[in-house]
Amino acid sequence: MSLRTTADAEGGVSAASEGDARPIGVFDSGLGGLTVARSIAMALPHESIFYAGDTKRCPYGTRTEHEVRSFAMQAARWLEKHDVKIIVIACNTATAAALKVAQQTLAVPVIGVIAPGARAAINTTRTRKVGVLATDLTVRSGAYTRAIQDLDAGVDVYGCPAPSFVEIVERELATGAHLQERWLENGDIFDTPEIRAEVARTLAPITGSDVDTVVLGCTHFPLLAGPIRAALGDEVRVVSSAEETTRELKDILARRDQLAGELAQPQHRFATTSDNIAEFAAAGSFIFGQPLKSIEHVSIDELERLYR
Ligand code: DGL
Repeated sequence: MSLRTTADAEGGVSAASEGDARPIGVFDSGLGGLTVARSIAMALPHESIFYAGDTKRCPYGTRTEHEVRSFAMQAARWLEKHDVKIIVIACNTATAAALKVAQQTLAVPVIGVIAPGARAAINTTRTRKVGVLATDLTVRSGAYTRAIQDLDAGVDVYGCPAPSFVEIVERELATGAHLQERWLENGDIFDTPEIRAEVARTLAPITGSDVDTVVLGCTHFPLLAGPIRAALGDEVRVVSSAEETTRELKDILARRDQLAGELAQPQHRFATTSDNIAEFAAAGSFIFGQPLKSIEHVSIDELERLYR
């Protein structure tokens, strides 16, 4: 932590600080975690972020728990090697498979997105009936049910696997055909009749049930918020974990006295396993809400050397 002093208007000296200017490490199986990185960048403008997206091995949600745990540990160790001060697993599937082992084995603190998503749901539901829309592996792991019922054991949780959604998002991002500005505000990105039909089919088990809140339990899914809201109807609130995760991150850094100070120069750096950096840059800039200026390639070989 470094301190600098500056003269204030009255000629006295006030302390200004760079604080802990090391980056926050964030990772996901691909581009979806940028929905979380975006929220962090907006809420913590002095913080540097180092984001890793394992695009080449995406999707994680259809893999085994063992595989996802290995991939997630590789990414976490890679970020740790790059001197991040904390790691955010911005992927529900990787959180379900690897949060505990990452917390047990890494020297830096690690947080995931499931506990924050569960809190967002609990803070929203009135009927205490909550739907969880997630990848196959996240639903199968039961991690959301545990996290929600740890907060309120009386809440009924209905898991709804949506195996095709990650594929839709990654495919649409790659073609760029339906990218719309201000997607976060208007939520109707990728709102085509075909996608609406697929979303409605997938959500059938929970539409018309008495859930009043649905958690987007996958960081790719905010990009499908428009069709998801259309399928669920106005009565159902749709929540995601991005803001709640950012709040938890800020609290932890503040408690550990590790927030970046006003004099820190925030840098946003990105790494991907994808061989197509231009595609990652185009889609990533769109989700992150600002151009991804610094992107590097990280090879699967390099990651595999860090954890098996
Ligand atoms: N974005 C990830 C999540 O939050 C999953 C995407 C995938 O299946 O790789 O679960």
